[in-house]
Amino acid sequence: MDLKNRDFLKEIDFTSEEFLHLIDLAIDLKAQKKQRREIQKMVGRNIALIFEKSSTRTRCAFEVAAFDQGAHTTYLDGLSSQVGHKESIADTARVLSRYYDAIQYRGKTQSQIAELAEFSDVPVYNGLTDEWHPTQMLADFMTMIEHSGKRPNEISFTYVGDARSNMGNSLLVTSALLGADIRIASPKALWPAADVQEIAQGLLAKSGGSILLTEDMDEALPGADFIHTDVWVSMGESEEVWKERVELLGSYQVNEVALAKTGNSNSKFMHCLPGFHNEQTTVGREIANKTGMRDGLEVTHDVFESEASVVFDQAENRLHTIKAIMVATIGD
Ligand code: CP
Ligand code: NVA
Repeated sequence: MDLKNRDFLKEIDFTSEEFLHLIDLAIDLKAQKKQRREIQKMVGRNIALIFEKSSTRTRCAFEVAAFDQGAHTTYLDGLSSQVGHKESIADTARVLSRYYDAIQYRGKTQSQIAELAEFSDVPVYNGLTDEWHPTQMLADFMTMIEHSGKRPNEISFTYVGDARSNMGNSLLVTSALLGADIRIASPKALWPAADVQEIAQGLLAKSGGSILLTEDMDEALPGADFIHTDVWVSMGESEEVWKERVELLGSYQVNEVALAKTGNSNSKFMHCLPGFHNEQTTVGREIANKTGMRDGLEVTHDVFESEASVVFDQAENRLHTIKAIMVATIGD
C-alpha cells in the first residue's frame, strides 16, 4: 500500500484499510526493534517538530522513532522560534518545507494545521489539536488489538469522561471508521459536537460499527473490553473550568465500581496520559485540595495501578505507531 507524501491531519484522512495497514506496520516495526533487527528506512531524512503546547510522549515518540530509523529532528516551540507570534503559519510552512522532509505540529485549532498543510510541500502530521489526536488513535487501536486478540470491528469499548475534546472526538470517529462498538458515558453537555457525531454516524454504514451516547454508566459499561478516559480539563482550557468539570464529571470517575460494571473480568483500563490518579503532580494536588477528591480525579490510583491497566503499553505504542506513519509517508 502506497501512502507516500500523505498528510495525517485527522483520522478520516485515511480509509479503514489504510489505517489498519499503519497499525500492522507498527506491529511489525515493534517486533523489529525488540528483536534488534530494525531496518532503517529514513536515513538522511529531517523532521521538524513544532509544539505550541507541551508534550512528553508525542515529542519523545517522534524523536526516538526518527533516530531509530536514521532520521534527524528539530524541536521548535512558540517561545524559542518565530512560529505564531512573529511569523505566520503559511510562511513557516513554506520555509520549513525547504529544509525538512516532514513537519509535526501540535497546536490549538484544526484550521491552523490545515493551513500549515496547505502551504507545506512535505507531509504534515497532527500531534494533537483541540479537535483531534490522530497519532494517539493508531496507538490506542494497536493496544486494543494486542490486548484483546480481536480486530477493531470485534472490539467493544467505553469512553468515560469529557467527550467533547480531542480524545472523545477521535475515539468516536476512529471507532466508527474501523467498525468497533463504542459507548460514550458522559453528561450530555460534554458529548462530542453535532458535526463530529455526524462524521461518525456517516462512517457506520460502511464499517458496520455501532455508537451509543449515554449519560448512564450502567448502560455504557456492560461487556466492554476496554474503558478509556482522559483528563477532565485539556491543555489550553482555563483553570477556571476545573470547578464546573469536577461537578459535571465527579460521578464519571473510572474506579473499581466502574470497572466491575463491565461484567468482564478481562476488561482493561486505558488513558492517553498524562493522567491525574494521585497527588504527585502540582495540578493533581491543587485540584484534590480544592475539591476534596483524595482518590484521583478521572481515575483512581488503584485502577491506574491495577492489573487491568495497560496505560504504559499504550504509551509505548505511541513510538511504534508514530514510526509507522513516518516510514509509510516519507520512508524508502
Ligand atoms: N498522550 C499524549 O499525547 O501525551 P503527551 O501530551 O505527553 O504528548
Ligand atoms: N485531552 C488532552 C489530551 C492530552 C494528550 C489535552 O488536550 O490536554
